[in-house]
Amino acid sequence: MSNHVEFNHLIGEVKMTSLKGKDILHGSQFSKRDVEGMVRIASDFEKELKKKDSLTLLKGKILATLFFEPSTRTRLSFETAMQRLGGGVISMASAEGSSAAKGETVGDTARTVSQYADVIVIRHPRIGSAEEAADAASIPVVNAGDGAGQHPTQALLDTYTIRKELGSLKNLVVSMVGDLKNGRTVHALVELLSLYQARLYFVSPRNRLKQKGIRIEETEDLERAASESALIYVTRIQKERFTDLTEYERVKGSYVINGEFLKKLKKKITILHPLPRVDEISSDVDTYPGAAYFRQVRNGVFVRMALLAMIFGKR
Ligand code: CP
Repeated sequence: MSNHVEFNHLIGEVKMTSLKGKDILHGSQFSKRDVEGMVRIASDFEKELKKKDSLTLLKGKILATLFFEPSTRTRLSFETAMQRLGGGVISMASAEGSSAAKGETVGDTARTVSQYADVIVIRHPRIGSAEEAADAASIPVVNAGDGAGQHPTQALLDTYTIRKELGSLKNLVVSMVGDLKNGRTVHALVELLSLYQARLYFVSPRNRLKQKGIRIEETEDLERAASESALIYVTRIQKERFTDLTEYERVKGSYVINGEFLKKLKKKITILHPLPRVDEISSDVDTYPGAAYFRQVRNGVFVRMALLAMIFGKR
């Protein structure tokens, strides 16, 4: 069976979405229809990859990954996704290895890479840098993390994981734990959960909370919040974003999920983390049935395959 016939059902789905040719910059840009289209396409790709190693849907297309800040999961999963779809990848894994080290701007880098590739995935330590790249580029740009700003594709894979782990996205009670001010994954995920009437606990050391326009209760009491939640979304305290290291020292280690904590909860809970972790989830939690963070990592490939297919649309 040809690839074209095989993917007719996916192409129909792709045509329905509004992401064709679009930049992906912010969690707030997705509609419920986008999210649900992405979930269905990612799920189809997940099934297809059980049958074969790679597809040819994006044969001839090139993805450029421009990473001005460290990454393991986001860069490698985008590159895996593109290769599984039959496309090619060119990669800049660090600012030091590129002409950014000679003073080239993000805009000029994006203009240049537009001459080589069909889509750019960019990570940069400055908020707004992905928009700057998108303004300059002549091809779609995907924000893979702009400082403490946004990380919309992580929010999509988190949403896909929640749907798989819990069966539904509707009316969830979720505890968001950790560095909520600097956590770009939280900022993007809150936008998507707000489409599904989630109720959120923001569990964070005092003075590090960021208010959003949905049902949120701020608390420092992790045990109380977790006991009322179906899901805990844990984040690392982001040392690299602190200008005052004494404040980092004050808040680090504020919340630790370990076996002892889970015993106190007396119920099963789903635990997600965008990773990397430092010490906020101890390794004795890894075998707990609700510990879904490495399944979450794997879902990143299916979701990024879906997103790339949606950006390229029907071929
Ligand atoms: N979740 C995430 O963004 O991981 P990386 O920093 O490894 O890409």
